[in-house]
Amino acid sequence: MKQLTFLLISLVLLLTFTMCQQPNGNDQDEVAQKIDSLIDLMTLEEKIGQLTLYTSDMDQTGAFIRKEYESDIKQGKVGAIFNAYGADYTRRLQEMAVNNSRLRIPLLFGYDVIHGHRTIFPVPLAEAASWNLEAIENSARVAAEEASAEGLHWTFAPMADIARDPRWGRIVEGAGEDPYLGALIAAARVKGFQGDDLADLNTLAACVKHFAAYGASQAGRDYHSVDMSELMLREVYLPPYKAAVEAGAATAMTSFNDLNGVPATSNHFLLTELLRDEWGFEGFVVTDYTSIMELLYHGVAADTAHAAELSLKAGVDMDMQAGIFQQSLTKLVSEKRIQETIIDQAVSRILKIKFELGLFDDPYRYSYKEREKNNIMRPDQLEAARDMARKSIVLLRNEKNTLPISNEVKTIALIGPMGSNQRDLFGSWSAAGDWTKAVSLAQGLKSRFPDTKIIVEEGCSIEGNDKSGFRAAEKAAKQADFVILALGEAYWMSGEAASRSELSLPGVQQELAELIIETGKPVASVIMSGRPLTINWLAENSPALIQAWFLGTQSGNALADILSGDYNPSAKLPVTFPRNVGQIPIYYSMKNTGRPFDENNKYTSKYLDVSNEPLYPFGFGLSYTSFHYDKLTLSQQSYKMNDSIQVSVEVSNTGRVAGEEIVQLYVRDPVASMTRPVRELKAFDRIWLEPGSSKIIKFRLHPNQLGFYVSGKKYITEPGKFSIFVGGNSNASLETGFDLK
Ligand code: GLC
Repeated sequence: MKQLTFLLISLVLLLTFTMCQQPNGNDQDEVAQKIDSLIDLMTLEEKIGQLTLYTSDMDQTGAFIRKEYESDIKQGKVGAIFNAYGADYTRRLQEMAVNNSRLRIPLLFGYDVIHGHRTIFPVPLAEAASWNLEAIENSARVAAEEASAEGLHWTFAPMADIARDPRWGRIVEGAGEDPYLGALIAAARVKGFQGDDLADLNTLAACVKHFAAYGASQAGRDYHSVDMSELMLREVYLPPYKAAVEAGAATAMTSFNDLNGVPATSNHFLLTELLRDEWGFEGFVVTDYTSIMELLYHGVAADTAHAAELSLKAGVDMDMQAGIFQQSLTKLVSEKRIQETIIDQAVSRILKIKFELGLFDDPYRYSYKEREKNNIMRPDQLEAARDMARKSIVLLRNEKNTLPISNEVKTIALIGPMGSNQRDLFGSWSAAGDWTKAVSLAQGLKSRFPDTKIIVEEGCSIEGNDKSGFRAAEKAAKQADFVILALGEAYWMSGEAASRSELSLPGVQQELAELIIETGKPVASVIMSGRPLTINWLAENSPALIQAWFLGTQSGNALADILSGDYNPSAKLPVTFPRNVGQIPIYYSMKNTGRPFDENNKYTSKYLDVSNEPLYPFGFGLSYTSFHYDKLTLSQQSYKMNDSIQVSVEVSNTGRVAGEEIVQLYVRDPVASMTRPVRELKAFDRIWLEPGSSKIIKFRLHPNQLGFYVSGKKYITEPGKFSIFVGGNSNASLETGFDLK
């Protein structure tokens, strides 16, 4: 009898729910009603299913779903699947859920679309070097266009972790060391992925990660502990996540690390007090891969049920791959350790995103073969990747105008393990990209210099100590008019679980470089890596030096654009390059200390064996032309707290070719109630100047940008003197100042 009653009630409610399935838009209240009526229908087991995210797998036969997951999907015990893409495959999985489960709730498909889906863009750290927010947003937009055409709804990006330790392999995935630049880039990426409406077919729900402060893992060792003051957390590490939330990020992901003794995945301060109560985040929180289970290793959970209880109560909504919500929550509810209402709340957040994606109107709307065919690796998408790559390449040295290579050059020798390399050009997290379609540097050069003889010699591999290729490489160099040294890291040497204790060029590449540069030929060294490397010798001895990161599908063409001068390099470093690992952490916005370095005083803050100065500072990058800064002026000498501070500066192109300059504005508060960094980036602008021309650039600052946290979330701007520095990198010397009353 009871079953019959339950069935009848379910039927009535299901009818009600179906009737309000009006396709006329999903405004907030209407969606909320639909969600509530759906939740009223759901059994506890079905609710817990929505909180469960499992991976699809891949083997030599292609993508497949584990049998146990298939049965769970059919019973409505799984809410989302990641690592599954393709119109046919996602449609098949969606049919499993919608055609078999009692309430036909559609699955959510997520994937790590970090810097492109099929057309692979430069790694995020490279894109950050462009300081070009429009291009970065467009990169995310193209990625969303391709991924959503292959049935995907959700990307685990942007990664917004500030990183000041290049030993940490995941520095490659973010936007570098600066909170101001990082925040703007995180917001741009969210807008690029999500567009204006998640129901648009070519958009993806974003996921700001890894919340929080994962980039401060001790000693740059991945997954290691993080410990810092709340002031440092708020001032340096939180701004990019906050900016992503303010940009409307639909979801957030917890980080693997513990923060001040509490793992992020069970951190109520982070996930509820900060993210939701203080920032107003309304999306859902997913854990990182098996992070709930890892609470046992962290030593804060006695067993899996305890781990589930801690994480759900902290503010986690979805369990990635641990299966612990699925296995524990029913018991926790029956033991009254968890209120079912907290589960309802998590379900509601997840269903809301599914509604906003339009999945309840048509669960298959993203899984159409036709759309897939027309939205992947189109010429315009490839061109966008090439343009992003050009804008990401940093010129670090160019003695005697070694570059650009003149068209008169008869023979180019391309030497090094990255010359013909395609696999490593994608860097880490290259989604569904096909690296065999990547344009190598050799291919790029051949298509740009069709009448030039190009000799390609690997010389050595990326790692290992085999020097048997040195002789042939040296011979090639001696035969050439111009030599390009293509050196760097393998794609797997950065990214997740890829910390390095040394930052030198791997293998015997340094020896190869010395041998080749010894020939006295004009040499341009191109470094492809996912992090700053200690390329000190090359910085002194290679006539030209380029940081090329990992540039993705269009690597070779973009590098040829730069090497030939077809595109004048404009990128600037988003992260400091250390001279050695001993300097780390090293970043431009250091504190002055009570004993600032003085070369004439032993007892000042310095090392015995290395300078305090980095190899290359944050914001540094050269051009084939030169720029001069002058007439730095302020609208007033003193301002009140509600004034806006107008700054202007004249920038001139004093060289022979047109180029883009990234004009940077830094501020210092030399006297405050707490110690303040010697400089902080507060504004920047990109300008294009023809040779011989000048332009007045204007910036507008507001006093509330000049404040700092004093305790907890208390943030103040103090009156007093402020200095402003404007220039082409963080060592900008053009200075002025003002009083703030
Ligand atoms: C990984 C990464 C995270 C990624 C997730 C899903 O372990 O930490 O960045 O989004 O698992 O692949």
